[in-house]
Amino acid sequence: MPHAIRIHEVGGPEVLQWEDVEVGEPGPGQIKLKQEAAGLNFIDVYHRTGLYPQPLPFTPGVEGAGTVESVGEGVANVNVGDRVAYAGPIGGYAEERLIDADRVVKLPDSIDAEHAAAMMLQGMTAQMLLRSVFPVHEGDTILIHAAAGGVGLIMCQWAAALGATVIGTVGTEEKAELVRAHGCVHPIVYSKQDFVAEVQRITDGEKLPVVYDSVGRDTFMKSLDCLKVRGLMVSFGNASGAPDPFPPNVLAQKGSLYLTRPTLFHYIASRQQLEQSAGELFEMVASGKVKIEVQQRFPLADAAEAHRELQARRTTGSTILTI
Ligand SMILES: NC(=O)c1ccc[n+]([C@@H]2O[C@H](COP(=O)([O-])OP(=O)(O)OC[C@H]3O[C@@H](n4cnc5c(N)ncnc54)[C@H](OP(=O)(O)O)[C@@H]3O)[C@@H](O)[C@H]2O)c1
Repeated sequence: MPHAIRIHEVGGPEVLQWEDVEVGEPGPGQIKLKQEAAGLNFIDVYHRTGLYPQPLPFTPGVEGAGTVESVGEGVANVNVGDRVAYAGPIGGYAEERLIDADRVVKLPDSIDAEHAAAMMLQGMTAQMLLRSVFPVHEGDTILIHAAAGGVGLIMCQWAAALGATVIGTVGTEEKAELVRAHGCVHPIVYSKQDFVAEVQRITDGEKLPVVYDSVGRDTFMKSLDCLKVRGLMVSFGNASGAPDPFPPNVLAQKGSLYLTRPTLFHYIASRQQLEQSAGELFEMVASGKVKIEVQQRFPLADAAEAHRELQARRTTGSTILTI
């Protein structure tokens, strides 16, 4: 019988249980996927802790890659034996799973399953942020928080390829070196340096058209102070906790700022959007402009350990759970 990680009650990493599971056969529009790797993402922590509630019990994980084992009635976009990957439908921490066929994309020969599992969610998030939420152009100077993380390291490279000057916050000097090697010209070690003052200095007081903030509570209000008049605050995560509520008038006082809180799943909701986003990501990777750095690998059964490392800020780049 195949195995999966199951959560029966929300809580710490110890609630991630390795169990035998019944997978069954695909229904209409579904496929059965034999996975080779699953991606580890911060959203998995939010699901595990209950910050983003899920009906219990459930298998966490929103990203994976593998081979199509069987197809249900009416499936036309993939065949048995195709190599595919996905980001979105929960249930990824599993050796085998069922998934809607219209949520998977075929992998180009140049991308192996491990790199696919590492890149789909984080890479399409980078595509959403840099190409759609605030389209970055040559000459823009932008701030990316947690620049050495999974999403961050992809964004640094992609934004540099678009011709932007990247300022990135990181927790340690080692992470600063890592992001410098991936296109971030101005790393700021925000555990030691005041990032608002650094942004002022780097931009000669001009400040920024956009801040991408996935850290949340610890950085949110200070991020607003990095924006120029009518700049865009992109709040897209809560690694340090959800930002505190504040009155809209604060946006006026700080320069008629815009605020958006995007989630990838609304940007890849249609098949056409999914293909566009994945297609752009595969192109960036194939061209060598973006390198997917799989910095940590854990056996799927050790998902709890992977969660501990991610939450303790000890990971960099992407992390996969191997099968
Ligand atoms: N909106 C969306 O659709 C979407 C999609 C994907 C991801 N996200 C968000 O993007 C962010 C990055 O995701 P990821 O999977 O790539 O994770 P990650 O960036 O690899 O890991 C999180 C990083 O956040 C930083 N951090 C700052 N304060 C922290 C704290 N109190 N606890 C833990 N980490 C802290 C750490 O880097 P330093 O040590 O350098 O500070 C840490 O390495 C997450 O907030 C995630 O929810 C959002």
